[in-house]
Amino acid sequence: MSSRKSTILVTGGAGYIGSHAVLALKQAGYEVVILDNLVYGHRDLVEQVLQVELIEGDISDRSLLDQLFQTHDISAVMHFSAYAYVGESVTDPAKYYRNNVVGTLTLLEAMLAASINKFVFSSTCATYGVPQFIPIPEHHPQHPINPYGATKLMVEQILGDFDLAYGLKSVRFRYFNAAGADPSGNLGEDHNPETHLIPLVLMTALGKREHISIFGTDYETADGTCIRDYIHVSDLADAHVLGLEYLLNEGESEVFNLGNGNGFSVREVINAVEEVTGKVISIKESDRRPGDPPILIGSSEKARKILGWQPQYPGIKDIVAHAWQWHQKRHTT
Ligand SMILES: NC(=O)c1ccc[n+]([C@@H]2O[C@H](COP(=O)([O-])OP(=O)(O)OC[C@H]3O[C@@H](n4cnc5c(N)ncnc54)[C@H](O)[C@@H]3O)[C@@H](O)[C@H]2O)c1
Repeated sequence: MSSRKSTILVTGGAGYIGSHAVLALKQAGYEVVILDNLVYGHRDLVEQVLQVELIEGDISDRSLLDQLFQTHDISAVMHFSAYAYVGESVTDPAKYYRNNVVGTLTLLEAMLAASINKFVFSSTCATYGVPQFIPIPEHHPQHPINPYGATKLMVEQILGDFDLAYGLKSVRFRYFNAAGADPSGNLGEDHNPETHLIPLVLMTALGKREHISIFGTDYETADGTCIRDYIHVSDLADAHVLGLEYLLNEGESEVFNLGNGNGFSVREVINAVEEVTGKVISIKESDRRPGDPPILIGSSEKARKILGWQPQYPGIKDIVAHAWQWHQKRHTT
């Protein structure tokens, strides 16, 4: 590679994971352009923290994409933009298929027309559905149990076909639960509505919510609550830079899980929040939610071996401490 590094288009770069990837790309010396319609993204974080070009627009706007690819010398695309609320995907699947599948197809076709053939994709452990065994490797069968997971699996299939037919090379990352915040405290998770456990518990610690609900306390786990694999968002971001460089070095299309390999129960997360914040969290025990498997843990050995990925923050306390730093700054100043 030449000393002048490539320009990367990051869709959804004003959102939670995308913004951390933009920061990691900048730190690795890449030029970055963000395309985000700001439905869920944050302009203030792009302007004040990331300080890269933001094109406010939609991935389904083909003429905007054509113009973008004509005016910028883009080497690869990292595609974070999507809708990602599982419950909403069940009640309004059309919205999800249109944005996550049709929108992505439009983006891919515009890329091909502009002869851009490197693509890093945000897929999810939700494509696996109910695990048949744990930890889940990449070759585990994929049977999503909601439209959100189905949209991501469809894009994975499109990418396989596009490689065979058009030579479009992709890295498909299946994330487990993204969590935490940049250790600087300047970037973090700010979803509205928020559905993820750690920010919800932290908002309870901040007094912005009355209590945290635990859905199911009678699972066959050590403390009866569900276990999930939380991966620090900065570690996810680092994996994206490695995945990009793998493609820029002419790597073949690949799929990688990105998780911690460790699971933490809901009670362990709440305990970590109490320890980090010094606050007592009020808990409401509720019934199990349909479709919640007791344990979801991924194996990310393949990403470690092939990409040389090494998570820096595997412990739940670091994840919670970084998120706490961000939440205090975002919600109390
Ligand atoms: N957060 C997780 O734990 C998790 C786990 C697995 C997979 N993922 C996937 O990772 C990606 C990023 O997730 P996130 O948590 O950062 O979500 P997010 O909502 O914070 O970010 C998504 C961004 O995409 C933008 N966007 C949505 N539709 C768009 C469109 N049509 N055109 C342009 N921009 C659009 C939104 O404004 C937002 O800024 C998503 O694809 C999600 O499915 C997330």
